[in-house]
Amino acid sequence: MTTAKRIQYHRYGGPEVLRLEDFRPARPGPGEVLIRVKAAAANPMDRKIRNGEMKMLTGWKFPRGLGHDFAGVVVAVGDGVTRLGVGDEVLGGTGLKAAGAFAEMVVAEEKAVVTKPPNLSWEEAAAIPVVGLTAFQALVNTGELQAGQAVFIHGCLGGVGRSAAQIALARGASVGGSCRDTAAHDARGLGINPIVDFDFDATKLAKRFDIVLDTAGTLPIGAAQALLKPGGRIIDINPTPAKFARSALPGPYRVLVGKPPWQTSMRSRRLPRRGCCGCRLRAACRSARRSRRSRSLNAHPRAESSSSRPSDHHPSPMRTSRADPAGK
Ligand SMILES: NC(=O)c1ccc[n+]([C@@H]2O[C@H](COP(=O)([O-])OP(=O)(O)OC[C@H]3O[C@@H](n4cnc5c(N)ncnc54)[C@H](OP(=O)(O)O)[C@@H]3O)[C@@H](O)[C@H]2O)c1
Repeated sequence: MTTAKRIQYHRYGGPEVLRLEDFRPARPGPGEVLIRVKAAAANPMDRKIRNGEMKMLTGWKFPRGLGHDFAGVVVAVGDGVTRLGVGDEVLGGTGLKAAGAFAEMVVAEEKAVVTKPPNLSWEEAAAIPVVGLTAFQALVNTGELQAGQAVFIHGCLGGVGRSAAQIALARGASVGGSCRDTAAHDARGLGINPIVDFDFDATKLAKRFDIVLDTAGTLPIGAAQALLKPGGRIIDINPTPAKFARSALPGPYRVLVGKPPWQTSMRSRRLPRRGCCGCRLRAACRSARRSRRSRSLNAHPRAESSSSRPSDHHPSPMRTSRADPAGK
């Protein structure tokens, strides 16, 4: 295979470690495709990885490519690839360790690549994967967003924020959000209302939202709780050890680490009727109450924590409080 150019680095560090260099693209292995990159998108995690903030996950093998999101044309396919073929116009993401989308050529797993809708430009297509999946997983999988609900997005004009606003509106929810004063007209243009500044007074919007999505990771927990309707959910996408610990506790707060697309259910699940405490798993609700009674806890699950969200007493398949090494 001939050489190609890519942005790569030989040690973790600041922007000064980046070099535009020749590299030899790997032949696509089983289940992989080789893409000629037309456009790539930058995400905050690219900077965090380059800085070495995620080296426990990304390891010590250098040189490393940079960038995950791309759009381009398939130029070769590995054994077992059936869905994509040479010449297909696609968008997708690389694995966390592999990276390397800021290049002329990149290898990705077939399951992380989809056909590009023809009405999207290369740049538009490349901008979707990480932010679109994260917003979808936050609202639909973790938040179990329903039509008619109200969503508040802290940082509503970032990549994840804009994606989340559009997903929520398309699914029949209303969206409020925070952004800089000077950008309020952009938020209005997306259909966001109400719009507040980053350091807004949450008591003025008390109990108005079913889901609070903190994209910036800066919303004080008290403010997020004040915004919530009873039974609502707070979703934070900026994990720290302290946030993982809080996320493991009963209550409305969950920290989300995005999963790769093949671990994401893209369909909205049809939910069973709500249980007696407003939860969505009636049978599990009853059995949870029974087991609590048998432990001489006479309180209803909701009574144990005034801030507990409906399904806190159930094991939920959508709970995302663990770091997923296969994720981002
Ligand atoms: N957990 C995951 O799987 C996952 C996935 C994707 C991203 N993330 C993380 O989520 C964060 C957002 O990602 P992104 O791609 O949306 O980034 P982004 O495009 O840079 O957007 C960040 C947004 O936050 C706003 N902001 C800045 N300071 C703020 C503050 N004090 N309060 C509220 N908002 C503030 C920014 O506004 P201005 O532009 O006006 O400054 C911008 O709109 C990043 O830290 C990223 O690493 C996590």
